[in-house]
Amino acid sequence: MRKFVIDCDTGTDDAIALMAAFGCEEIEILGITSVNGNVNEDNVSRNNLNMCEYLGWEVPVCRGAAYPFTMGFRNSSDQTHGKTGLGSVVIPEAVSHTFDRRISSRFLYEKAVECQGELELLVTGPMTNIAAAIIQYPDFAKLIKHLWFMGGAVYGGNVLPTAEFNIWVDPEAALTVFSSGIPLTMVGLDVTLKAIMTREDIEELRANGSKAAVLTADLLEFMEKRFARGGEDIIMHDALALAAAVYPECLQYRDYWMDVETRGDYTRGHTYADVRNKLNRQPNVRVATEIDVPAFRRWLVDKICLCK
Ligand code: RIB
Ligand code: CA
Repeated sequence: MRKFVIDCDTGTDDAIALMAAFGCEEIEILGITSVNGNVNEDNVSRNNLNMCEYLGWEVPVCRGAAYPFTMGFRNSSDQTHGKTGLGSVVIPEAVSHTFDRRISSRFLYEKAVECQGELELLVTGPMTNIAAAIIQYPDFAKLIKHLWFMGGAVYGGNVLPTAEFNIWVDPEAALTVFSSGIPLTMVGLDVTLKAIMTREDIEELRANGSKAAVLTADLLEFMEKRFARGGEDIIMHDALALAAAVYPECLQYRDYWMDVETRGDYTRGHTYADVRNKLNRQPNVRVATEIDVPAFRRWLVDKICLCK
């Protein structure tokens, strides 16, 4: 059984990715680590803990980085994920589950050591916790079998025309990860912007009636209303990064040498891909470049319906 830790900034699409992950019988989730991003770390951590209790997931939940490396980012008043991070959706506060005593970077390292090189990471938020583990524990990077992440873009951006949110929040952390030697698969905006769910998917999930399916339908309906108000569409950024790990055939890939821009008023957070191999450097990132959208949507609805 493949072993994963999921590092996330739960957020509406992170929450859906978590439920899909717990519907994947082929992987074992060893823990959930929380990072500041869509909302502040306190809300992210509470969302992760509350989801575990609400859905009966018995895995450690760790608190994590409250700020990016340079402290520059402050959570915006942007309502993409609502005030709590779960949009307008409310789930009960955890009463029996409590946070693991370890901070996320320490937990990530201990699991990496326990798994003896077999640990994989799914990262769906800013990379602050991962970078912290890399710099705190010199042998951490070599112990990670593969890191699958939602972030970046070869072309375009969302928070800036040149930068995607997860990388833009903490470019220094992303640069640390990109240059760590950890095998990386990037699922960026090039493919995630096409990973849009539909009204039919929402109705199928609601008809399924399981706790996870109904919670997912509620989150998708929040996104549907958000889009109707001029906000982001019903985009499954983070679940597509999970798909890259467990359903790779729904994507196509290219290997690029990539770097992260950490300077510039208009370019900080840009993920640079040497697509023409001008620099003649060894590729360090496998990048998803094409998506089979109907296949992905079918897979995601099926996994949510399997979520225990
Ligand atoms: O740019 C999209 C990413 O930023 C997603 O991971 C979303 O959850 C937000 O974190
Ligand atoms: Ca996220």
